[in-house]
Amino acid sequence: MVDKTNLTRKEFLKYSGAAAGVGILASHGISSFANAQSGEMLHRPIHSSGEMVPAVGLGTALEFGTFNNVEEFNVRKGAVEALLNNGGTVIDTSPTYRDAEIVVGRALDELGVRDKCFLATKISIRGKQEGIDQNNQTFTDLRTDKIDLLQVHNLRDTDAHLETINALKDEGKVRYVGITHFRENLNNEAVKVIENNKIDYIQCQYNMLDRTIEDAVLPAARDNGVAVMINVPFARGRLFGATAGKEIPEWAKDFGVDTWGKFFLKFIIGHPDVTVAIPGTIHDYHVIDNLGALRGRLPTQVERSRMVQFIEDI
Ligand SMILES: NC(=O)c1ccc[n+]([C@@H]2O[C@H](COP(=O)([O-])OP(=O)(O)OC[C@H]3O[C@@H](n4cnc5c(N)ncnc54)[C@H](OP(=O)(O)O)[C@@H]3O)[C@@H](O)[C@H]2O)c1
Repeated sequence: MVDKTNLTRKEFLKYSGAAAGVGILASHGISSFANAQSGEMLHRPIHSSGEMVPAVGLGTALEFGTFNNVEEFNVRKGAVEALLNNGGTVIDTSPTYRDAEIVVGRALDELGVRDKCFLATKISIRGKQEGIDQNNQTFTDLRTDKIDLLQVHNLRDTDAHLETINALKDEGKVRYVGITHFRENLNNEAVKVIENNKIDYIQCQYNMLDRTIEDAVLPAARDNGVAVMINVPFARGRLFGATAGKEIPEWAKDFGVDTWGKFFLKFIIGHPDVTVAIPGTIHDYHVIDNLGALRGRLPTQVERSRMVQFIEDI
């Protein structure tokens, strides 16, 4: 097992970089950076500021924080590089995603792209002082003096951590304040936090198998000018299992869908109240595929209903 914080520059040059990334991409029939900047890519506003962000980003919860050697680190670094080189900016991580913050911080530093990235992370622990201590380590691990979005993870000790995050915002160390959760049984609590606090962002689960936030969370976010970040957009990959071996329906090609990843993501960002979805992946070719959902038109509401019916019929 390599020392995860002390990979030498030589090791990085040996194993990493665009050349390795392009090789992987080419083997999947996807051109890396050549198609990056053609055409318009969908951006959505953060309501509290008007700042625009690309509506698809990158999540780091699953395998991102685990690696055993330089090659595996460089796969993850390649995903970050692919995001930033292909029009994406938003990365979501957490101090509780094993070593994901270390991986993200090192990758951004090595690539020299911290300023291009909209970096979101969390306070994820009980206790106010414990949260402050955890967040101090986060700044070190992410190698940054500014976090774009700091969120209370899973509504754990929300009041205490919102106080901390708001104080950091006043100091200029955090740009936006948020909360997260991913469970249906926390939807009501999330709505109360939206209504009773001044927050910029809510992050919650929305995908073709779980649409419960449509009922109250999305309307509350809209009414209170809160941006919405969508986690678990592929139901942790279950949607790919459900559609494995199935043809993409012809009618979905009308709105630019040629992969299942784009099908699932266009459904999500086709909801007008969604700001950004953050599919998790360690693979650059999946990052490129996911960013492809930002191109072409979105499905209409009628088409979105048809998409749901299609998945329900499988
Ligand atoms: N409470 C919270 O705050 C909370 C809870 C859960 C998640 N999150 C955030 O939300 C992010 C997304 O959720 P998630 O990672 O749990 O699950 P997810 O995004 O629903 O699914 C991830 C899975 O999809 C696969 N995948 C990604 N892009 C693909 C593509 N284009 N084609 C085929 N397969 C693809 C990935 O495999 P490969 O790696 O092989 O590409 C991975 O197995 C997390 O990473 C995290 O940042 C937050």
